[in-house]
Amino acid sequence: MRFPRTLDLVILLFSWLPLCSAQRPAAYQTRNFNTINSIYNFTIYPNQVSIIEQVTSESIPELEHLFSPTVSGRIQEIGNFTNFRHSIEYFFGLAPRPQGSQYSAIVEAELVQFSSDCPSVAASTVYFKVALEKPVPGKTFKHTYLKQTGFWHFDEDGRVDYYDLYIPGLHDFATILNGADFSSKLVQLIATKQICQGAQQLCTGANTQYKPNFGINLSGVLSALGLNPLLDAPLINQLGLGILNPGELTCMIKLGAKNFGTFDKLWADTVTCRIVHLMLAAVDPDDHCLHVGPTGGGKCVDYPYVDRLYDDIPLFGERLRFRCPQYGGM
Ligand SMILES: *[C@@H]1O[C@H](CO)[C@@H](O)[C@H](O)[C@H]1NC(C)=O
Ligand SMILES: *[C@@H]1O[C@H](CO)[C@@H](O)[C@H](O)[C@H]1NC(C)=O
Ligand SMILES: *[C@@H]1O[C@H](CO)[C@@H](O)[C@H](O)[C@H]1NC(C)=O
Repeated sequence: MRFPRTLDLVILLFSWLPLCSAQRPAAYQTRNFNTINSIYNFTIYPNQVSIIEQVTSESIPELEHLFSPTVSGRIQEIGNFTNFRHSIEYFFGLAPRPQGSQYSAIVEAELVQFSSDCPSVAASTVYFKVALEKPVPGKTFKHTYLKQTGFWHFDEDGRVDYYDLYIPGLHDFATILNGADFSSKLVQLIATKQICQGAQQLCTGANTQYKPNFGINLSGVLSALGLNPLLDAPLINQLGLGILNPGELTCMIKLGAKNFGTFDKLWADTVTCRIVHLMLAAVDPDDHCLHVGPTGGGKCVDYPYVDRLYDDIPLFGERLRFRCPQYGGM
């Protein structure tokens, strides 16, 4: 009598299926999903604009139910952001915005992966759809994607108080976003020049990072950049270093001596790290100009691999912060 038994089993299995798939999420699961979804929704252009305008104010009403005032976290491989202001600047200040002639903006943020096994912890992956030209309704537009994945921790009010997230493939993304090959010497020098000009424009007064040094002249800069005035004449012409002011020339010498770096490892004493922190300095010069400067201000600094990835206690207070209580976590 094997046959009927197997059939019974199959029927039993299938009779459970609709029940399983129709299982309603617990209230905390819906809440955590909505919190993460709302955070990412503020990265969609132009939703972040009003947030950015408020980063230096005491409170940001739109975000009060989403982030704890003591939020702290890590975004691999960008850095750690150990308070509310820095976290907000990271989440929304780095979201692409159309600027000048360059159009780039997040047009969609879809949580393609989500799970939450207890009120305090959730894991998620978002796909940001990034437009590379102004979207016209009903027409296809140039776009690419950016992925962010990792874990979130929530306080008793359901606000994010810790996060440990990762952005894979950021170097390839930056290459596509800028339409530039960052391994080319010319592109590296142009980017360095843009950082120097940007740093001198945004970081002024007490925030000035690169002081004019009147001993500096163009031939000194060329030799610091490893360029030969004769052999590299076409490159030098394309670069247009002649228009730089003395502070910008000081900056070219200082940054020319550093590794250009990669966007896959931004937590380093590199030019690429300063590209990202200049975006943050645009949002909050008092806090971020130092990171763009010659010392890196504790952010654009070479940290050991183990400190960058595993120094969890100062950041999260607990080693098992992102494990649900039923597995011995928080
Ligand atoms: C996303 O933001 C827009 C604009 O503020 C708002 O209309 C929409 O309801 C938000 N969606 C979610 C899921 O929060
Ligand atoms: C330009 O700078 C270099 C190196 O700093 C120095 O050796 C040279 O004398 C300077 N040239 C002029 C014309 O000031
Ligand atoms: C942030 O990261 C740096 C580099 O690893 C480290 O020195 C610092 O202690 C970290 N801060 C916290 C609060 O974890």
